[in-house]
Amino acid sequence: MPTWNADQYLRFLNQRTQPCWDLANRVALEAPQRVIDLGCGPGNSTAVLAQRWPKADLTGLDSSAAMNTAARASAPDRHWIQADIDHWHPAECFDLVFSNAALQWLPNHAELFPRLLTRVAPGGALAVQMPVNDDAPAHRLLHDLARASRWSNRLSNLRQWHVHEPAFYDDILSPVSSRVDLWITQYLHILTGPEEIVEWYKGTGLRPYLDALTNPTDREDFLAEYRAAITAAYPSQRSGKVIFPFRRIFLVAWH
Ligand SMILES: C[S@@+](CC[C@H](N)C(=O)[O-])C[C@H]1O[C@@H](n2cnc3c(N)ncnc32)[C@H](O)[C@@H]1O
Repeated sequence: MPTWNADQYLRFLNQRTQPCWDLANRVALEAPQRVIDLGCGPGNSTAVLAQRWPKADLTGLDSSAAMNTAARASAPDRHWIQADIDHWHPAECFDLVFSNAALQWLPNHAELFPRLLTRVAPGGALAVQMPVNDDAPAHRLLHDLARASRWSNRLSNLRQWHVHEPAFYDDILSPVSSRVDLWITQYLHILTGPEEIVEWYKGTGLRPYLDALTNPTDREDFLAEYRAAITAAYPSQRSGKVIFPFRRIFLVAWH
């Protein structure tokens, strides 16, 4: 489990929150009463839910103490729980179990997703968004670099994201749902330059690698090599900016 830095994560707040809006807007629930946001991070996704459903009783859950502190500071009156989704077995059900950009950190989706659906009340939904960006240069280059000789003994076995293709989620959820909605969107983030792609990843996908490199010089060297590879892979536009494509999978499973 990587360590999290809420400030680094929030550097790209608008871009990171857009998929959350796109997911919330697709959930055709008029007035869900009990809503939980799993892996709520610094509370940005929970804030979207609060705007979308102002009367809902909202709870945000996250395992990171740093994220929990940031979330609580963002809305002190809301319910915030520090817990691991893998060990979350509440007795009660929710009208909406929502998770934006978090479940990719958990393994064993074949068991996890149907289990989460059991916590959805009749007529309610499980709504999830996750990155499915393994083929993107930013992701591939990170894996290639981690397998290079200087780093491989410390980094090659880090498995970070667990995301499957849509057919997998349909197979595991259709038998236990009244309906499953599935879609993929590729976002095209326009960033000021390749350095911003590195900064984006420092808030998420790079975290397990940087955590594993305890020596600051190693971290800097690793980042410099990654930065050079990213600069070569993402050419600048005439404006000097770069386009950073990012693919995401969405699903809404109805009870
Ligand atoms: C990329 S952030 C997403 C934050 C927010 N939901 C959003 O939409 O931007 C992923 C969050 O998932 C949390 N997380 C990862 N694994 C978790 C687990 N097993 N249990 C609870 N939270 C977890 C992390 O602490 C982190 O805050």
